Amino acid sequence: MSSHLIELNSGESIPAIGLGTWRSKPHEVARAVEIALEKGYRHIDCAWAYGNEKEVGEGLRASGVPRSEVFITSKLWGTYHRRVEECLNETLANLGTDYLDLYLIHWPVPMNPNGNDPMIPKRPDGSRDLDESWDIRDTWKGMEEVLKKGKVKSIGLSNCSEMMVEKILTTANVIPAANQLELHLYNPQHKLVAYLKSKGIVPQAYSPLGSMNSPLLQDEVATNIANTRQLKTSDVLLGYLLRKDIVILPKSTNPARIEANLIGALEAYKRLTAEDMVVLDNVAANGKQKRFIMPPWGIDLGFENWG
Ligand code: A2P
Repeated sequence: MSSHLIELNSGESIPAIGLGTWRSKPHEVARAVEIALEKGYRHIDCAWAYGNEKEVGEGLRASGVPRSEVFITSKLWGTYHRRVEECLNETLANLGTDYLDLYLIHWPVPMNPNGNDPMIPKRPDGSRDLDESWDIRDTWKGMEEVLKKGKVKSIGLSNCSEMMVEKILTTANVIPAANQLELHLYNPQHKLVAYLKSKGIVPQAYSPLGSMNSPLLQDEVATNIANTRQLKTSDVLLGYLLRKDIVILPKSTNPARIEANLIGALEAYKRLTAEDMVVLDNVAANGKQKRFIMPPWGIDLGFENWG
């Protein structure tokens, strides 16, 4: 079913539709993963920081789908930039697997490994407890090491602007395979997506539906196109990104929506016309610009229009 594949510069292929698991509650995510795999998903997007990888692993095993048929991504958390393999080992143990298909640097922001709060550490003065003497390019070296050891099949980035990718490329031996970003109708980041493609880096969309309580699902332009093409608005939002060769990672723990997102995205991929794509491409340019995920680090990551 999710046979739609995109090639990575590592020689691997990634299923273009994956199940997102951020904010999926541990007691719900195992069932969500199991259902997704039963319905045809072959790609699960995880992260150490989501705190639910153990339950994701339970869902993988419950599905009975062989590990070799599922593409699994996880992400290195900020407090582990100096110890990439340690974070990876925890993720592998939690998921119950001995390799990942793709490992990403979650945020290009090294955080104090000894901070009080591993999620968003704060200093007593209220400022962020970041690891300012650590260079992100050395984190990438750590990523290259675990790739060389065969613990992961591809490595990549997340939340990296063009400025940050350029910085990493100055010393990289391996070009990142992917960069996972907030990408959707109201935040299409056309320039960054074109830049990534020019470098052979596959863009991946988190929050493709606009995250929780999303106004995108009521968007007039997307809804009109959905009505014309006999699709749901959510299908149009997902198919729009697929048509741009962007990997989509819709999150759901609701069985009906998990299945509908897979079927609907593929249907919209087929039915959207070139004219629909032009209209959708212009939605943000015509004033509907919005980001839903605010980076909590208090530093300039080099993104346009963040905020
Ligand atoms: P739920 O898990 O209850 O389905 P995003 O992937 O952009 O972050 O969006 C995820 C949010 O949208 C979640 O709150 C999810 O809730 C909800 N959602 C997922 N799929 C759909 C859909 N097809 N229609 C409406 N809401 C959806």
